[in-house]
Amino acid sequence: MALSLLSQLLHSCPVEDFYDAYYEKKYLQIKSANSCLFQFNTEMFKVALLKSAFTHPENIRANKEGNVYIAPLPMEPYQLYDWAMEKYNNGATLILNQVELNDDLSKQFAIDLGKDMKAYISLTAFLTPENSQGFSPHFDTHDVFVMQMSGSKEWHIGDFEIELATRRQGFLVSPEVMNSPHTIISMFDNDILYLPRGMVHWAFAEHLPSLHVTVDIDSVTYSDLLLELILQTSLNMTSKENKMIVNLFQRDFNGNLIPELEEVLKNLKFETKLFNLVLEKKAKIRYL
Ligand SMILES: [Fe+2]
Repeated sequence: MALSLLSQLLHSCPVEDFYDAYYEKKYLQIKSANSCLFQFNTEMFKVALLKSAFTHPENIRANKEGNVYIAPLPMEPYQLYDWAMEKYNNGATLILNQVELNDDLSKQFAIDLGKDMKAYISLTAFLTPENSQGFSPHFDTHDVFVMQMSGSKEWHIGDFEIELATRRQGFLVSPEVMNSPHTIISMFDNDILYLPRGMVHWAFAEHLPSLHVTVDIDSVTYSDLLLELILQTSLNMTSKENKMIVNLFQRDFNGNLIPELEEVLKNLKFETKLFNLVLEKKAKIRYL
């Protein structure tokens, strides 16, 4: 039987071990895992950048030592491309979101991995000049696989700022964290790094320009499922049932959810139809 894309990406780490020990819990570095699963190089980055300048200019930005640069849109596509390359030549990291929108192989990769992980997957590319740092210490609100495509990068990984961070939680942390104990790992061509959402990190390009692509994993959360459940139910319920749903959200004096709601949440995980509805909606939002 053919190995799933996730299992190929995890290389020497079995899928079950990944979910048991690492997923949303710990970082994981996988050496030399990506020799043929995903292809992207600096020339491809530049082509994707130009295509995005035409189709999705809002997906292009630059970062230098924590400062974010966004082009004043609307801007003529070639002018936007030149704006980005000028920022890069002055030491900024270029960030291209949703690479899959302009590249069929990337799109297939995102779709296949999304099926394996039961999540919505998007790809973001980062081109960093040598001897520079794009982002200040921060945490992301989605899990990522970092795929180092060329050059090298030194990653600094701290503790969880917030476990299971969600989209509404801010992601910047105090630069002081750089002085506290943390792990340092070096990423080279074809290495992969899994980082759970909420875990603090920052990175430096070393003596060569660095290109990495992050696989952004937008997991289906309980709140996604619950919202969809309420929406689907409300289409077809009486005011009496409606009141029952409202009652489910009441908490006890200690702020705990009532047991009935906990039960509903546990069972929602296994509602494949609901899961698929949420994924479909996430895909529609992203692929507009
Ligand atoms: Fe990040």
